[in-house]
Amino acid sequence: KITPVILCGGSGTRLWPVSRKSFPKQFASLLEEESLFQKTVMRLSGAACFDKPIAVTNSDFRFIVTEQLAAVGIDPGAILIEPEGRNTAPAVLATALYLHAKDPDAAMLVAPADHEVADTEAFRAAVETGLKALEAGKLVLFGIRPDRPETGYGYLELDGSGGDTVPLKRFVEKPDAATAAEMLASGGFLWNAGIFLFRVKDILAAFDTHASQLVAPVTAAVNEAQIDLGFLRLAAEPWSRAEDISIDYAVMEKAAGLEVVPFDAGWSDLGGWDAIWREAGPDESGNVTHGTATAIDCAGSLLRSDSETVELVGIGLKDIVAVAMNDAVLVAPKDRAQDVKLAVNALKAKG
Ligand code: GDD
Ligand code: MG
Repeated sequence: KITPVILCGGSGTRLWPVSRKSFPKQFASLLEEESLFQKTVMRLSGAACFDKPIAVTNSDFRFIVTEQLAAVGIDPGAILIEPEGRNTAPAVLATALYLHAKDPDAAMLVAPADHEVADTEAFRAAVETGLKALEAGKLVLFGIRPDRPETGYGYLELDGSGGDTVPLKRFVEKPDAATAAEMLASGGFLWNAGIFLFRVKDILAAFDTHASQLVAPVTAAVNEAQIDLGFLRLAAEPWSRAEDISIDYAVMEKAAGLEVVPFDAGWSDLGGWDAIWREAGPDESGNVTHGTATAIDCAGSLLRSDSETVELVGIGLKDIVAVAMNDAVLVAPKDRAQDVKLAVNALKAKG
């Protein structure tokens, strides 16, 4: 069986003001009532091939995680708590070490909690396909056909074509705009979906080889972890010594023996308001309105009020994002959606 590992400790600043420090985007109702976290867990539960999921999150979000799991009736195998965010590499390593004590041969499927995947069946079929590569000790990645020169993703250069799975030639994490455009034009690259499948012992070997600086502090944090109200709380002191780095930079860009499963299951990273606009399905004028929002003579715009007390009205707007909450309003050109993190930094600086 595969143990799903859901990474849900990120801060999601580009979806401010709906995504907040104390309540980041993966837990918010962005497109539907259920949060992306809940939809992710549901996607990874209820099929015969999956064991109980493990959630890995920041201490601040631990009760949101238990509440949201209970609300969809899913019993987690474990909830690992990070005393502070160290990005995804330490989170994956800690979970692999935790699982290693039970079964070094176990397969783990690492999934982010900030994605939309429209076709669950196609997604599960891709996972089944990836399973076949695990016998050979491969680390499996999932690739999406790109349709724009996105700089916020990792790119997978395939070594050849054909077959259900394709060996990886090169992994390029978050390229600059010119490189992204070249890779898109060349046609030989897929986007990294940010979903990983491997056996516990194989990812641990890859950490030993490519990110050995993480091994001692994270091992200590797991060995000294405490059970706290049913959570497994990693030990703060060794954890604070772990480098803050993503699994993409720490391992995937460097490792050999990577295998890609290309898949097409309506995948989308809901990273910014432009992506929410796209996924929500704009009307014939290209507008998306949500909550108490009204668009008059607007085009290509997202108007959203999550506040019952704030009426948001746009007139004559073109390609604008406007999002209102009780206590904050964002207005920006849609093509600057990725810069919303600047707003968060600016507010942080103001204190
Ligand atoms: N537990 C935990 N702790 N989870 C974290 C942490 C952390 O410190 N930091 C981030 N996460 C979670 C996020 O909540 C998210 O679900 C997932 O890990 C991925 O992190 P992101 O920060 O969203 O990564 P990204 O989107 O910039 O890049 C990754 O995903 C892209 C596709 O969406 C990379 O894997 C790219 O290569 C990939 O293309
Ligand atoms: Mg992301």
